[in-house]
Amino acid sequence: MTIAQRRLPNTLNLAATAIAAVDVTSLADAKEAIFYAENAGIRLRCLGEGSNVVLMPKVEGLVCYVKDASVTLLSRDDEFVRIKVGAGKNWHELVKETLSQGWFGLENLSLIPGSVGAAPIQNIGAYGVEVAQFIESVAVMEANQIVREMPAKECAFAYRDSIFKARLKSTANAPVILSVTFCLNRRPDVNLSYAELAAFFEFKSPHVAKPKSKLPSPEQVADAVTAIRRAKLPDPREYPNAGSFFKNPMINAYATPRLEARSVRPYKFGEGYKVSAAQLIDHAGWKGKRRGDVGCWANQPLVLVNYGRASASNLLAFAQEVRESVAEQFQIQLELEPSVVS
Ligand code: EPU
Repeated sequence: MTIAQRRLPNTLNLAATAIAAVDVTSLADAKEAIFYAENAGIRLRCLGEGSNVVLMPKVEGLVCYVKDASVTLLSRDDEFVRIKVGAGKNWHELVKETLSQGWFGLENLSLIPGSVGAAPIQNIGAYGVEVAQFIESVAVMEANQIVREMPAKECAFAYRDSIFKARLKSTANAPVILSVTFCLNRRPDVNLSYAELAAFFEFKSPHVAKPKSKLPSPEQVADAVTAIRRAKLPDPREYPNAGSFFKNPMINAYATPRLEARSVRPYKFGEGYKVSAAQLIDHAGWKGKRRGDVGCWANQPLVLVNYGRASASNLLAFAQEVRESVAEQFQIQLELEPSVVS
């Protein structure tokens, strides 16, 4: 195991170097990394493919990359299959592989950049599905170097949030996520609750039950999600970005008439209401706007793009301007979606 300085890949294409970084290819490596960080009195954190982080130019502490990309079948019956997947597996590869095996559920989460180990951190979600719905447990190694299977209910999954995300923000060392165990369906059970997805299949109302024979297959849903994402979201290889840069904010019911007066339509979410951050940013006039090398993507203003050699500070300053203008116009504070890592 070699610990060395390293340039950190990230989908925003920000120039970032870790003082110390290491590939973790075994449990022994994970233990050694934890021991090293503990001894040196430095922070330890894991990164995946860098698709949901804003990396500052110098990243302190020890950065670990868990390399295990194995997929292990744990059990299978007529209804469900349980698989354990190494944290280093590419997310979209996993979605494709599960579909080709006839293991269903992840189809709405097609084409999300990043690794399996990163998926539970922000509880990735898209097109009416959140990964937490399919997670049985997450295997982590804590500071005591013991591997623990954390059942989903201990992970505090919420909209774009989990116990792991909270730990990333705190000063304590984040646990090393080694693998994720999923429970997937063996019978197709497609989810067309997201209006845009239902519309793709020309279902007028996503809430009206459809005869099973008329439903698209999970593979068709995966293709539809892929097509919708490709049309709307910039490809990070061409236009470096970290997906949504802000969360869709929760608001109080009393704020809704004021928003509706400006044609911003909140929607029911759990006990409260959520509002589309993209709509707020759009209404505030940011769509397609640029400041130097940072800009707001025209087809989905929730996404900020690095058009050239933007720095993390340029990006965060731009995000702050967007936040201030939305706050001024709508009295709503947008929260950053990616984690800032320094
Ligand atoms: N919209 C505008 N103006 C535009 C484009 C879109 O106002 O120019 C508004 C539409 O009115 C609509 C909303 O944006 O209300 C629809 O956009 P989308 O379907 O992309 O949904 P979203 O709420 O903006 C969330 C996730 C995405 C995820 C989609 C689909 C968050 C922060 N983002 O975006 O996730 O793909 O739903 O489920 O929850 C990501 O996290 O990186 C991400 C891309």
